[in-house]
Amino acid sequence: MTTTQDPQAQPPQNTQRLGQHTIPSYLDPNNIGPYEIFLEQVERVTPYLGKLAYWVETLKRPKRILVVDIPIHLDDGTVAHFEGYRVQHNTSRGPAKGGIRYHQDVTLSEVMALSAWMTVKNAAVNLPYGGGKGGIRIDPRKYSTGELERLTRRYTTEIGLIIGPDKDIPAPDVNTGPREMAWMMDTYSMNVGRTSTGVVTGKPVTLGGSLGRADATGRGVFVTGAEAMKKLGMPMEGAKVAVQGFGNVGEAAARIFHGHGAKIVAIQDVTGTIYSEAGIDPAAALAHLRQTGKITDLPGTEELTRDEFWGVDCDVLVPAALEKQITLANADRIKAKLIVEGANGPTIPAADDLLAERGVTVVPDVLANAGGVTVSYFEWVQDFSSFFWTEEEINGRLDRIMAEAFLSLWDVKERHGVTLRTAVYIVACTRVLEARALRGLYP
Ligand SMILES: NC(=O)c1ccc[n+]([C@@H]2O[C@H](COP(=O)([O-])OP(=O)(O)OC[C@H]3O[C@@H](n4cnc5c(N)ncnc54)[C@H](O)[C@@H]3O)[C@@H](O)[C@H]2O)c1
Repeated sequence: MTTTQDPQAQPPQNTQRLGQHTIPSYLDPNNIGPYEIFLEQVERVTPYLGKLAYWVETLKRPKRILVVDIPIHLDDGTVAHFEGYRVQHNTSRGPAKGGIRYHQDVTLSEVMALSAWMTVKNAAVNLPYGGGKGGIRIDPRKYSTGELERLTRRYTTEIGLIIGPDKDIPAPDVNTGPREMAWMMDTYSMNVGRTSTGVVTGKPVTLGGSLGRADATGRGVFVTGAEAMKKLGMPMEGAKVAVQGFGNVGEAAARIFHGHGAKIVAIQDVTGTIYSEAGIDPAAALAHLRQTGKITDLPGTEELTRDEFWGVDCDVLVPAALEKQITLANADRIKAKLIVEGANGPTIPAADDLLAERGVTVVPDVLANAGGVTVSYFEWVQDFSSFFWTEEEINGRLDRIMAEAFLSLWDVKERHGVTLRTAVYIVACTRVLEARALRGLYP
């Protein structure tokens, strides 16, 4: 008989004997997609979980998945349908929490992986949340503001069944921001008949958003990167930094590294790659991007091919675009001694191994980019009390949480002789499964 007190009472499940499959039927076993990376990461951490390994299947199976059809009127009077998802990977430690992505390549597997990484991330920095994520399969650049508003409002209504301030709290991700969060908050509030600011985070400051949220993820990338550089004896002044992705995360990270004396030598975004040995001023790059719609042709920089970006002479590499960017095709060319993962899932496990063999330190996504969800947590807490903190308070608390999390996880890494990624998974998965064991199975 399984009890909550004795999680070791039975041997781990024999999935074959039970006729169960590790890969659910809604994924293609021959092409699992990004969720395969997460499953592999769980396999790697299992030997370190001790008795809690009894519960490890919990991590491999998302708690709840909602797939929705989003029909909207386009501006030309026709009707278009879009595929939308909301996945709640785990809620053992609290309500699900994680962003909403608009991208033409969004798949269920990707949203599952992103939701699982949120579970790990929230546990890694000890926020009282589980993990969730959502997405719509759309290229938002091709649609008008009105169309995107109708899309966002219909999607919010469709997933309104399962979200809520104490159930599941969305936030921005790729191609969504404060504007979409305002629409989501308003739509949810209209549906429940009261203003509910705590249903999403990353809102505009005038609607219950938090100061410091816009830069929070990039700031966390900088704080954990700077702590790692201290551990590795790398000076910040003049350190050469290459950044992939120049959006919410990449731009803020580049700006803050630059502000602390580092030199941004290369930037890549969807429009191209720029390089300057003398260093790129992120403010000039942003102004140029806003003016011309691209980062290429910035005066004082030369253009590189997409692939040349990976071989750039740099000390620190910040992938802050999309997943699966660092692969076996480029990991051996990376010159950086330190990689700080601003994006979610930018490094495939085989490349991670190669980097470890080459002595490259990786601050993993589930730690490095946790600054965003940490300030989202502050926003949620402020919304509950309707009492708002100053930006100094927020940045101070954020810096402290990120630096302390980094240092304690670095200790775990040293103690077990593992990579920082495995150390984060050990601590986070232990916290999640401890909660699972203590709560027990219902009924
Ligand atoms: N925004 C947050 O608070 C937050 C928090 C945690 C993690 N993340 C992760 O960080 C990553 C970036 O998110 P964001 O919010 O900055 O998104 P964003 O939409 O603001 O920016 C994405 C950037 O990536 C670039 N990009 C897209 N495709 C590319 C490609 N093929 N090659 C090179 N560059 C490409 C875009 O041009 C853009 O500069 C994502 O993996 C996201 O999940 C974001």
